[in-house]
Amino acid sequence: MPVSYLITGASRGIGAGFLKQLSRDPNNLIIGLVRDKVATDKKVAQELGDLPNVHIVQGDITNYEELELAVKEVSRITEGTLDYIIANAGVAGRTGNLPINILAEKREDLEKDFFYTFNTNVIGNANVINLFLPFVLKGKTKKVIAISSAHGDLDLIRDLGIEVSAPYAVSKAALNCLITMYDAHYRPEGVLFLAICPGFVDTGVLDNVSEEEKPYVEKLVASFSKHSPNPKKQSPEEAVNNVMSVVQKASIDNGDGGMFLSHLGSRTQWL
Ligand SMILES: NC(=O)c1ccc[n+]([C@@H]2O[C@H](COP(=O)([O-])OP(=O)(O)OC[C@H]3O[C@@H](n4cnc5c(N)ncnc54)[C@H](OP(=O)(O)O)[C@@H]3O)[C@@H](O)[C@H]2O)c1
Repeated sequence: MPVSYLITGASRGIGAGFLKQLSRDPNNLIIGLVRDKVATDKKVAQELGDLPNVHIVQGDITNYEELELAVKEVSRITEGTLDYIIANAGVAGRTGNLPINILAEKREDLEKDFFYTFNTNVIGNANVINLFLPFVLKGKTKKVIAISSAHGDLDLIRDLGIEVSAPYAVSKAALNCLITMYDAHYRPEGVLFLAICPGFVDTGVLDNVSEEEKPYVEKLVASFSKHSPNPKKQSPEEAVNNVMSVVQKASIDNGDGGMFLSHLGSRTQWL
């Protein structure tokens, strides 16, 4: 029986890294959930060739009807089971790296960004988990991993004085809370729920910093270098290897259920 993975947001970035790394093992069965199946099928064929253990399925995580169709498609592929959900899809927000006082002056943009980030990073993930959890309960490994961010760690925000990207940070903190709530209910049924920050990953997140954002990004980078003197920018593949090493070691028996961990397996060291 293959080990099956549902990876959301597998079209690019870290999600594409999960697809690439995990599909190397022919015993793994990979389902990549994406917003544009045609484009992703083409990209995967060009970059990785014809992989019999990879299936790309249409699924915008903010579109419930599309997710219901994806459930039928995944059921057909895996016969109604899944070992892992990697809830990776996420959005960084549209208000950029600006501090909360400046965002306060852009009230409409701020409100829209709270809805946008919450809709994807929290509600979208909740819908993915709710719809696919019956498959995980029938699977062998029973691990649900949400890709979160250190930006959502309240202690880190306080310690480093992080004041930028409030909608993103708030949505990731809410995602962490959501994962802990799933753990509260499903731990007795043997499902390990974990939120993991992948660390700093080179997916172009800081490529288009505006003049307005620049001083705040510089301040953010300076505060992060206090947290970690040599913060490592990982490739998606490196980040995936680190995250998967944490995922493989983590278990309910070790007390990891509902935790929010870094790619280093730590609750305090994020880079
Ligand atoms: N990069 C970092 O340094 C870093 C650090 C901490 C946490 N993270 C987290 O890691 C995850 C991946 O980040 P990344 O850097 O790889 O970001 P990215 O390059 O922007 O990729 C985001 C992925 O999510 C997908 N996505 C967005 N909204 C979606 C939706 N509604 N339905 C389905 N898929 C959707 C995108 O699909 P499309 O191609 O269709 O847009 C894309 O595949 C995110 O949750 C992010 O918050 C990243």
